[in-house]
Amino acid sequence: MEIIEKKQPTFYFIGVTTKQSSIMKVFPLWMRDLGREDVVIEGWDCKIHDEPEKYREAVAQIKFDPLSLGALVTTHKIDLLNAARDMFDYLDPYAEITGEISSISKRDGRLEGHAKDPITSGLSLDAIIGEDYFGRTGGEVLSFGAGGSAIATFLHLANKQDKADRPDVFTFVNRSQGRLDHAQEMISKLDTDIRVNYIQNSDPAVNNQIMAKLPPKSIVINATGMGKDTPGSPVTWDGLFPQDGIAWEFNYRGELDFLHQARAQVDSRNVTVEDGWLYFIHGWTQVIAQVLHFDLTPALLEKLEQTAETVRSGS
Ligand SMILES: NC(=O)c1ccc[n+]([C@@H]2O[C@H](COP(=O)([O-])OP(=O)(O)OC[C@H]3O[C@@H](n4cnc5c(N)ncnc54)[C@H](OP(=O)(O)O)[C@@H]3O)[C@@H](O)[C@H]2O)c1
Repeated sequence: MEIIEKKQPTFYFIGVTTKQSSIMKVFPLWMRDLGREDVVIEGWDCKIHDEPEKYREAVAQIKFDPLSLGALVTTHKIDLLNAARDMFDYLDPYAEITGEISSISKRDGRLEGHAKDPITSGLSLDAIIGEDYFGRTGGEVLSFGAGGSAIATFLHLANKQDKADRPDVFTFVNRSQGRLDHAQEMISKLDTDIRVNYIQNSDPAVNNQIMAKLPPKSIVINATGMGKDTPGSPVTWDGLFPQDGIAWEFNYRGELDFLHQARAQVDSRNVTVEDGWLYFIHGWTQVIAQVLHFDLTPALLEKLEQTAETVRSGS
């Protein structure tokens, strides 16, 4: 496997269609904010479920080339770790629990892998609901989708120290049974008092019924990728969002049908609607801070958020 000797510090984005992501525009502006204009971003596209060798090649490039600093990994988080686990000197506890990594970085010559999703989805959720949300409201959480980001969100809540920050009930609804089994196996090893339901379903009409049974102020998440990666929404336009509840769409671009369905009930059912922009910001800034070794203070995060907003609004 050939290692390319980079002439400039390089941060990789390992994904599928990396050129289309907003990060390609945002990254150079963030490097300017950070005084690190010497660092460039480079997309590294792999096919979905690519050959293990392809993942090992990407990891080797970072491990052995001094100016290849690290990477953010999407889509291939599990496959990459399965293919290249032996190449890492350290994996963080979330990577060990979930069997996936979203961050590759180097420290003192050691190659490190981190699963940042429980932190980044958690930071986003905390910003949406504030403290003691479940103690205050008695709401539950319903997640359409039981993939990596849905499980990460569950882990974040399960790790909350204060009971008022943990829901009594968290329900996963997923199209394939396999993902539910995987989630159940992982969660069964945790010591948690959250009651977890695992429902196999892909019929939107049934999803409407599941959603209608939620208590008021519950949180409904679209973690299926529907409305961006695939067309449609997990629910129909007849589906009733929880009264005074929260609808959280994990994506921020695409058709976002689920988001629009929820927005249609802002007045009639007092639904608060959130998209995935903040999740995107937290996801990227956490990994960049890990790779470039800087302290992501609240003031710095705010600055980076403002810079990203200029790209989002097209200005
Ligand atoms: N804003 C951000 O920065 C951010 C961060 C993380 C994730 N996301 C987005 O969130 C979405 C999920 O990410 P992920 O990493 O969790 O993906 P993932 O691991 O592929 O999980 C998606 C899950 O949704 C399930 N699903 C698909 N259609 C369904 C339906 N109609 N009903 C029920 N379940 C359905 C899939 O089931 P199968 O097993 O049947 O395929 C899969 O388990 C993606 O679109 C991603 O772009 C955004």
